Amino acid sequence: MDQSDVGTDLEKILLSEEDLGKKLDEMAAKIDEDYAGRDLLLVGVLKGAVMVMADLSRRLHHPITMDWMAVSSYGSGTKSSGVVRILKDLDSDLSGRNVLIVEDIIDSGLTLSWLVSNLRSRGPASVEIAAMLRKPDAAQTDVDVKYLGYDIPNEFVVGYGLDYAENYRNLPFVATLAPHVYSG
Ligand code: IMP
Ligand code: MG
Repeated sequence: MDQSDVGTDLEKILLSEEDLGKKLDEMAAKIDEDYAGRDLLLVGVLKGAVMVMADLSRRLHHPITMDWMAVSSYGSGTKSSGVVRILKDLDSDLSGRNVLIVEDIIDSGLTLSWLVSNLRSRGPASVEIAAMLRKPDAAQTDVDVKYLGYDIPNEFVVGYGLDYAENYRNLPFVATLAPHVYSG
C-alpha cells in the first residue's frame, strides 16, 4: 500500500520507509552488541508492533525467540488511562529470560509503564524497551526506552503498524492524517 492508494487521506509523510529502515539498522546493531552471548526474547505488543517486530527481528544477527501480547487500555477516546487489561498473554515463561519489549509508539507511556512492571513481576533476568516512535508526553513518565527510533511531534499518526479505526496499518511509512478523515 502506498500514498496513491489512500486518496487524500494523508496530510504529511513524517517518516519515509527509508528513514525507518535507517533507524532500524542502528537499533538492530546496538541490540546485537548489547545482548551478545545472552538469550533474548522479543515481546511484541499487538497489533501496532507487527511491522517493527518483523523488520527489527530480521535485521538481528543474534538468535531470538518471539512472543506476543495484546493489551487494551481503558480510557476515554484516544487517551489511555493506564488501567490495562490483558487480551492475550504471553505463551513464554519469563523466569531468567532477557526480555525486550517491541513497541510501535509511546504516547502517554501509561500502557508501557504498566507492561514493564507486569513483566518484571514474572522473574525475568531483564526487561528493556525498543520503540520506533515516541511523543513528547512520554518523556514525563518513568518509561525508560533503551532503543528508540524517532521522537515525533504530538500529532496523531498512522502507518507502519499504526492505525486510525483499524485502517492504514499497512502503509510503509508514518504520516499524519488529513482533518477530513477525523470529521467524517
Ligand atoms: P500510551 O503510551 O499508553 O498513551 O498508548 C500507546 C498506544 O496508543 C500505542 O501503542 C498505540 O496503539 C496508540 N497510539 C498512541 N498514539 C498513536 C498515534 O498517533 N496513532 C496511532 N496509535 C496511537
Ligand atoms: Mg501499540
